[in-house]
Amino acid sequence: MRLLILGGTVFLGRAIARHARDAGHDVTAAARGVTGTPVDGVRFVRVDRDDPDGLADLDGTYDAVVDVSRRPSHVRHAVAALGDRIGHWSFVSTGSVYADAVTPGQRAATAPLVDPAPADVDDPSGDRMEWYGPCKVTCESILRDGVGADRAFICRAGLIVGAEDISDRFPYWVRRLATGGEVLAPGTPDEPVQFVDVADLAAWLVRAAETGLAGTYDGVGPALPRGRFLAEVAAGLGRPDPELTWVDQEFLAKHDVRPWSGERSLPLWLPLPEYGGFMSRDVSESLAAGLAPRPLAETVRDTRQWMTDHPDAVKAGGLAPGEETKVLREWHGRLA
Ligand SMILES: NC(=O)c1ccc[n+]([C@@H]2O[C@H](COP(=O)([O-])OP(=O)(O)OC[C@H]3O[C@@H](n4cnc5c(N)ncnc54)[C@H](OP(=O)(O)O)[C@@H]3O)[C@@H](O)[C@H]2O)c1
Repeated sequence: MRLLILGGTVFLGRAIARHARDAGHDVTAAARGVTGTPVDGVRFVRVDRDDPDGLADLDGTYDAVVDVSRRPSHVRHAVAALGDRIGHWSFVSTGSVYADAVTPGQRAATAPLVDPAPADVDDPSGDRMEWYGPCKVTCESILRDGVGADRAFICRAGLIVGAEDISDRFPYWVRRLATGGEVLAPGTPDEPVQFVDVADLAAWLVRAAETGLAGTYDGVGPALPRGRFLAEVAAGLGRPDPELTWVDQEFLAKHDVRPWSGERSLPLWLPLPEYGGFMSRDVSESLAAGLAPRPLAETVRDTRQWMTDHPDAVKAGGLAPGEETKVLREWHGRLA
């Protein structure tokens, strides 16, 4: 198969390129070459999608394309330039397209979406992140209308984790549980956590291209309880039975411990019930359509190996050790 990746030089795009190359496909990655580098053995074509004619150097036909863009204009230009030269078209979208963050157990086929981005909003980067979901909704419609629903695979990724993830989210828990000692665990052990290993998502996208899978699916594994998640990460690090102290969300909020990511955060934790639908999606249709999540221990092993090999790659973030100790001390002393 001739596979074109629009992107293909960072995290997910590189994982798709690697998987497709290893499966024996002829892979082209097209990007500016600004934020990352293509994997070995993949043809690289330098393109700038900000230019409406920026894909002119992509000649010939492709059996399939995977696009990771966030910008409606990029998808519009791509459909105009390549629409009649591509067999199957995958678009990597996001769970941020969903309008209802509260209700657990929603399905891609029926969940309500946020409104599309207004015509003058095209770049949801920097301080315009609130337009990320709306821009992806617009991208999805441009693709469906442009190439036809029977050729389009819309894959709405959830939190993507694994090797080459430079965020402070999953890596925080790998680092923290590897260190050991008393660990501040947010919320309760039964709250859901949901994510997808980048290699599993990449494998599914390549398989979808090979088989011509069409339709709209969530690209995320099944939810699991946070207690099991933390225990399995610890076990994958060779430190079973972590010493977890569960601290309720009201106490955390009062002590300025923040959810999800960034400074003073406990990653993969979101306040309930406001975000009860965010990491509890019903993904049975994705699993039936070929998404095959690996055991968490493998994700932990790959992430840890990559973090060891690239000690400065992960963004600083999460609750710093001194901050965690202070919150735990205050938690234990709250009844004194
Ligand atoms: N990470 C998560 O947890 C998460 C969760 C949900 C959904 N997603 C989605 O998953 C996908 C992740 O993709 P990814 O890991 O490959 O990272 P990405 O940051 O989306 O990669 C963007 C790619 O597009 C290229 N690019 C950007 N601007 C360009 C331009 N003007 N012209 C040509 N190429 C351009 C970049 O290379 P250059 O800059 O060098 O051009 C890069 O290869 C995205 O669609 C994201 O929205 C991610």
